[in-house]
Amino acid sequence: MKAILCESYGSPDKLVLKEIESPKPGLNELIIEVKACSANFPDTLIIQNLYQFKPELPFSPGGEVAGQVKEVGEGVKNFKKGDSVFALCSWGGFAEEVKVAVERVFPMLPGMDYVTAASVMYNYGTSYHALKDRAQLKKGETLLVLGAAGGVGLAAVELGKLMGAKVIAAASSAEKLAICKEKGADEYINYEESDLKDAIKSLTNGRGVDVVYDPVGDKWAEPALRSMAWNGRYLVVGFAGGEIPKIPLNLPLLKGCSIMGVFWGRFATTEPQNSNKNLGELASYFLKGNLKPNIYKLYPLEEAAMALQDLMDRKVIGKAVIIPAGIEKALEIVGYMEKAVVKNVTPVSGKLVFHSPEEIKSFVGKEMGKSAWLRVNQEMVNLFADATLDHQWIHVDMEKAALSPFGSTIAHGYLTLSLLPKLMSEIYEISFSQMGINYGTEKVRFLNPVKTGSEIRLVAVLKHVSDMPNNGLKMIVEATVEIRDLDKPACYAEAISVIY
Ligand SMILES: NC(=O)c1ccc[n+]([C@@H]2O[C@H](COP(=O)([O-])OP(=O)(O)OC[C@H]3O[C@@H](n4cnc5c(N)ncnc54)[C@H](OP(=O)(O)O)[C@@H]3O)[C@@H](O)[C@H]2O)c1
Repeated sequence: MKAILCESYGSPDKLVLKEIESPKPGLNELIIEVKACSANFPDTLIIQNLYQFKPELPFSPGGEVAGQVKEVGEGVKNFKKGDSVFALCSWGGFAEEVKVAVERVFPMLPGMDYVTAASVMYNYGTSYHALKDRAQLKKGETLLVLGAAGGVGLAAVELGKLMGAKVIAAASSAEKLAICKEKGADEYINYEESDLKDAIKSLTNGRGVDVVYDPVGDKWAEPALRSMAWNGRYLVVGFAGGEIPKIPLNLPLLKGCSIMGVFWGRFATTEPQNSNKNLGELASYFLKGNLKPNIYKLYPLEEAAMALQDLMDRKVIGKAVIIPAGIEKALEIVGYMEKAVVKNVTPVSGKLVFHSPEEIKSFVGKEMGKSAWLRVNQEMVNLFADATLDHQWIHVDMEKAALSPFGSTIAHGYLTLSLLPKLMSEIYEISFSQMGINYGTEKVRFLNPVKTGSEIRLVAVLKHVSDMPNNGLKMIVEATVEIRDLDKPACYAEAISVIY
């Protein structure tokens, strides 16, 4: 099997891809064929010999996987070959197969894809334990999340909202904060651009925050602690920023606040019943669609080192995930995820299929159908801005856009329009056609801005059909792009296509 190996400690570029022997299961162990393995911060530490666990060289990093059971060892009763599972394996996941102790393996939730399954336990497990068991976060309290667009940070933002808190997200760029906003954050601070303490003071009218969730430490810890409300709880989660801060003990005295350590791994082994209860509660949130990890990028196994480098360079928003079966499989899985999302959001009721030109002509004047709801996120808006070289602030500069009448960034009108072919392909299909050409649009009007994070769908009505030379057929489709929960649509256009 192929595996990424750490043969000597150092930076990600020292990792090598090798062909090695498949592992064999021992007592109470099983072998998982890895479909997806997420990259987590400890992976960047373990390869530098800076982590609390120190596997023998050579080893593969990668502690959180999802895949199919390939083989079970003696003593394994609850799993069999072919079962879809996810697991916390500590290391070994950046490989086609990994050996895991049975107590660290869980059956995958119904309807969950492998990429999501490999991205949930570590982040949501940690943040739920921190907010629920340690801080005992209450509805209406104010939660400040540092490193809010990182793995555990973004999970804390989503969970904080779900638990009824007012969430202030703090991160290092407008792009990161835009994703935090999509995940429900109420306020945001770019702590690379503004003074953290001043910003908290002004957002809380001088009162301070009730709970700080801190996975970053370093220079941000002390100003955050100095910004706490009376009876506040400061959660020490990690030190991704590098330095372990040394806090003057007069601060918790003056603030009447508590500094609390969070160690999810220790909690899971020391209090297994409470940990399993938390995992059960998280599972029900996932099944109800209340939580969803942000997948930053999928990487083939050969590029696993790049995933770790991206984490270290603070590029990753949410999760970076490695797909050992390769880039084609990765793309297939992305497609599968898109379908899964569409399925969860709105069941699409059967596609309209035209079998002949006559069928199309007889349909004039009728509604062809509605696409599934599609969420327009900041990443799409940024990519569109890059592609069109239009970087107007209302689209990409969150802070200025927040001051606009819309209160947030909005999708470019032409972005909405350019989605028409995709949305139309969800609604109808022409089985007899060899080729179709988009001829443009008439009467385009943008009626309502689409705020990032909102959902849009297409309602298509066949307006007109006429014959063209060379057996072509011209179709004019009235396309109305609706915004979920708003009466006024985003855009109306008459889209012309010719099929042959
Ligand atoms: N206590 C526990 O039980 C527990 C469990 C899980 C994770 N952790 C710890 O929590 C921390 C975050 O883990 P994670 O998986 O969420 O990592 P992550 O996805 O890489 O997020 C870390 C965030 O920290 C910020 N950051 C600031 N300086 C950084 C630097 N020099 N290098 C990298 N990131 C930097 C980045 O946000 P900005 O760019 O916005 O500043 C980044 O998004 C780690 O220290 C990890 O060990 C602890």
